[in-house]
Amino acid sequence: MVEVDDQGIVDDPFEFGVASGDPDTTSVVLWTALGSTAIAGDVRLACDVASDPAFDGLVTSDLVSAAETDGRTARIVADGLDPATTYWYRFRVGPHVSATGRTHTLPGAGAGAERFGIALSSCQNRAELLRWDNHITLADDPAVDLVVWLGDFIYERNASSLEEYRALYREARGDARLQASSAAHPWVVTWDDHEVVNDYDGTVDPARRLDAYRSWWEFTPTRLPRPSSDGLRVYRFVDVGDLVRIVMLDCRQYASSETVLGSEQLEWLADVCNHGAAHTLLASPVIVSSLNVGELTPPYAFEAHPADQAAVIAALNAAPDPTVVSGDLHAQMELELAPGITELMAPPLSSSFPPDWADLLPFLPFASPSVVRAEAAHGYLRLDYATTGVTHEFVNG
Ligand SMILES: [Fe+2]
Repeated sequence: MVEVDDQGIVDDPFEFGVASGDPDTTSVVLWTALGSTAIAGDVRLACDVASDPAFDGLVTSDLVSAAETDGRTARIVADGLDPATTYWYRFRVGPHVSATGRTHTLPGAGAGAERFGIALSSCQNRAELLRWDNHITLADDPAVDLVVWLGDFIYERNASSLEEYRALYREARGDARLQASSAAHPWVVTWDDHEVVNDYDGTVDPARRLDAYRSWWEFTPTRLPRPSSDGLRVYRFVDVGDLVRIVMLDCRQYASSETVLGSEQLEWLADVCNHGAAHTLLASPVIVSSLNVGELTPPYAFEAHPADQAAVIAALNAAPDPTVVSGDLHAQMELELAPGITELMAPPLSSSFPPDWADLLPFLPFASPSVVRAEAAHGYLRLDYATTGVTHEFVNG
């Protein structure tokens, strides 16, 4: 086990817990961040990975830097791992040891993964703090193998600088309940609008956008590169063996009055929907179906951009057994996007809309031919993939 001295750190600096993300068949990103008790400058940490929670079966032990320029967040790609295997990990500095996280690698193609549970949620406004208990339910759910986050990890409030955005992530990651769900499962994360500013599009101040993207990257267990002034390509796909391809969308960065996804992402989408896995999960922060509620239709929605909506449907028509899961609207819904294509709206983890939105939801099926069911609920959606098919369950709390 690699040794690392305390570098003058007296108090336990691991106040934001640990997280893992973007797993593949042989590697996974491990993440932590240091709190205000840390000394100035960069801090060297040790990161241990083991095949058991007692760390008797040590697999790797490496050094990683929590750099001041990264907000004293640290990430390391643990690689050389076995497919479809559970690992435990922790970070250390001097006598201080972080909480232990648990993560899993993904099954390889042809490995015959028999079942795989994916939990999806979004929207964790701190204004509804009690509902963060849903993170405990998520942490303890034995059927979850992967968490897919559909955005609104923070709400920007008045933040517009790097330090102000970082403060919001530190507030969120300081919550023991988010630390529990982050330590329990690997996460694959995309963003929505509130990571930057409500309903932003390409016209947002580029410096503010970069600060927002930068803080998102620092506090997200992702293997994406650091954002540059060109932005950050967040859309990507994850293959769970031959069972399901998860396609992650970015509905904000390229949005304009002309488009939701932008031409490059649309082209990419058509390409990646053509694959050999049994199922397709399109993780779209923004609703793809039409709600048919006239001027209440959000201007950024696919419904307001029929060419994008048609292109997504065309891509999904070529995809094996597609399901769309969206977030953003702070509601739980079942919709029929197109014949044979179900869209499910994952409930928000905590965020609410004003009461008049909740009152309107039960009437949506009468207004919109695509809405089967709509209700005000919180928690997460779990999709249970199996070789025999896919089922879903809304887990509400
Ligand atoms: Fe939200």
